[in-house]
Amino acid sequence: MQFFIDSADVGEIKKALAMGLCDGVTTNPSLVAKTGRKFSEVLKEITSLVPGPVSAEVTAVDHEGMMREAHALAKVADNVVVKVPLIVEGLRVVRDLSSEGIRTNVTLCFSPVQALLAAKAGATYISPFVGRLDDISEDGMAMVAQILEIYRAYDFATKVLVASVRHPIHVLEAARLGADVATIPFNVIDQLARHPLTDAGLKKFLADWEKVPKEK
Ligand code: G3P
Repeated sequence: MQFFIDSADVGEIKKALAMGLCDGVTTNPSLVAKTGRKFSEVLKEITSLVPGPVSAEVTAVDHEGMMREAHALAKVADNVVVKVPLIVEGLRVVRDLSSEGIRTNVTLCFSPVQALLAAKAGATYISPFVGRLDDISEDGMAMVAQILEIYRAYDFATKVLVASVRHPIHVLEAARLGADVATIPFNVIDQLARHPLTDAGLKKFLADWEKVPKEK
């Protein structure tokens, strides 16, 4: 499973790269707003730092506006993937961009049937939002399992990119289901290697090592 970082913060992206846990990046308008920086400036910097795919979202909701923004975003760098919302007009945009060879990430997916439509439109990635479904007492990972079942049944090339990841169990479940990618916020990436028994075990090993007679 590939690890993308769900962030527009260059500092966090650099740390994830240094940890070897940044196969790509996903951004969204809320994440860009948090940086307080201009989107064009942030996107240029991220695409030059990260060799993998970098998702950048359109903010228009009509076909013409989304196409215009998509073309501008795709021109920024070869590794830009255009993020398009899962609305009727968005699916039309995905079909058109796909025929032009521009990669897309269909975002705000909350049902397996929506994911089926995205795949039929030729999306490169589908982003099911697991955390936001869990927030309203639905089962985000059950949605991912059904999407994978459908995609495998018909051999769709669209990759399943698990989004709205909130904790390490989401990462575990995405990997167990065989999702292609999980896009993970930095605070969760940072939690993944940590375990209290690892820390306690290491502390004990180092304390016991002090009792071993030292070599001359
Ligand atoms: O980038 C899209 C998605 O990962 C957003 O996550 O935590 O805002 O639901 P969240």
